[in-house]
Amino acid sequence: MTLSKGVWKMATEKSAVFIIFGGSGDLAHRKLYPALYRLYQAGMLKDHFAVIGTARRPWSDEYFRETVITSLEDFDDDKEKMTAFAQHFFYQSHNVNDSEHYIALKELAAKLDDKFDAGHNRVYYMAIAPRFFGTVAEHIKSEGLKTDGGYNRLVIEKPFGRDLASATELNDSLSRVFPEDEVYRIDHYLGKKMIQEISNIRMKNPTFEEALNSKYVSNIQVTLGESLGVEDRGGYYETSGALRDMVQNHIMQIIGSIAMDKPEELSAEAVHKVKTDLFASLKVLQPEEVKTEFVRGQYDTDNLGDQKAYRDEDNVDENSNIETYVAGRIEFSDDRWNGTPFYVRSGKRMPAKSSRIDIVFNDKVKDLGIKPNTTVSFLIEPEDGHSILINGIDYLEANQDFLKFPEDKTYFDNAREAYESLIIDILAGDHVHFTLWDELQSTWKYIDAVREQWDVEEPDFPNYLSGTMGPEAADTLLERDGNSWVWDD
Ligand SMILES: NC(=O)c1ccc[n+]([C@@H]2O[C@H](COP(=O)([O-])OP(=O)(O)OC[C@H]3O[C@@H](n4cnc5c(N)ncnc54)[C@H](OP(=O)(O)O)[C@@H]3O)[C@@H](O)[C@H]2O)c1
Repeated sequence: MTLSKGVWKMATEKSAVFIIFGGSGDLAHRKLYPALYRLYQAGMLKDHFAVIGTARRPWSDEYFRETVITSLEDFDDDKEKMTAFAQHFFYQSHNVNDSEHYIALKELAAKLDDKFDAGHNRVYYMAIAPRFFGTVAEHIKSEGLKTDGGYNRLVIEKPFGRDLASATELNDSLSRVFPEDEVYRIDHYLGKKMIQEISNIRMKNPTFEEALNSKYVSNIQVTLGESLGVEDRGGYYETSGALRDMVQNHIMQIIGSIAMDKPEELSAEAVHKVKTDLFASLKVLQPEEVKTEFVRGQYDTDNLGDQKAYRDEDNVDENSNIETYVAGRIEFSDDRWNGTPFYVRSGKRMPAKSSRIDIVFNDKVKDLGIKPNTTVSFLIEPEDGHSILINGIDYLEANQDFLKFPEDKTYFDNAREAYESLIIDILAGDHVHFTLWDELQSTWKYIDAVREQWDVEEPDFPNYLSGTMGPEAADTLLERDGNSWVWDD
């Protein structure tokens, strides 16, 4: 398989020294190095960059480069190019708690900056466990790693805290070192082409935009369904669960893209202003409302007894009450959406992998020239190239005047992979596709209210079979309002 070329005409070369904490790990090898390589293929990274991978294991530069090349082999077979790319990679053995190692890192970064003429720009990438984020940031400050004369950007992976209190504590410790405009919090769904296109689609389709409010929308559904179970991530999942792992970040950010007010322009400032306002208007649930507005589930074996139940997975407590499925009915109090339910769900061991947004219009949309009760579905995964359906039909074939973008499907086929797109934004200093602290505070506050109620109630788990759509109560949640899930196996 070769990497698609993408749309690179406007790409200009960038310069930076990347310091990847967790440089020997899974995320770095599966996502970051292939993404950096694509930028290299495109000429956006060329002569003026270096990557320092850092982690405890005592690798040599040569061995590290071999692992980097191996991580690219699924994507390309141009050995010469991959070897040339790998010459920009260096390894520094390092324990996050050891101050001495930060001094070595600083010296290596300065040396590589001179060697590659990287403009004193630094990207500090936290591809490590969240418990280390604060320590690393503090050492970056105390050992003086930040440079003068270039930029210093901190990239941080999820999860950003496990509730509002811990997220605030983390944010306080990071912000002592990196002000908000130097922080890039990754939510990789915001790097996905389909999600990024939603703003453009809204801008370019005035009738669709006009219909996006409680007057014309019956309900909006966001589904992030997976067919797999927790696989080898049982230990992590036991500390998280579907609500924290999927709703607080990905689902909320997807809702943000479709439901935020139309920004004055597509700048980071304008987009985050309307997103922050939207999340500030989340109707936080009272304890008794959690029982009626949210459903949780945990997978059992399948109907043949072939699959492992969650409680039988490795590193999972045999009496675990962690949810592997969540469905909820979310409401906002702002003028645009007051009264419109947003139904969300995410589950493991569902019948198929499917990430999608379904917008169900009511019959009043006929006043705008849209067929009554039309459903517009944005399919995010797993469709290769992505697609939009109108009443279940490909929107190009459905040929509805109110939604005409993009006109050429190859536009999506050339889309950049999420991490690649996000790294381009980081190098360009563009925050539009990252989450801001103000947004996180509102979404954590909302999630905490659900979690706190769940923590004092014993669930009746397991309550859905592997390979099914989840607990029946998730259907009742919509039926109560006279609605039903659009994606239903
Ligand atoms: N993997 C994914 O697809 C994914 C997706 C979304 C978010 N994330 C987030 O990305 C981060 C990394 O995940 P991962 O899956 O890549 O984890 P991983 O494979 O376990 O990698 C962790 C890295 O941290 C290093 N490390 C561990 N303890 C260390 C210490 N005391 N000092 C210095 N380095 C240390 C490890 O190397 P040594 O053992 O050699 O020290 C390794 O390079 C996590 O925050 C995770 O939540 C990952």
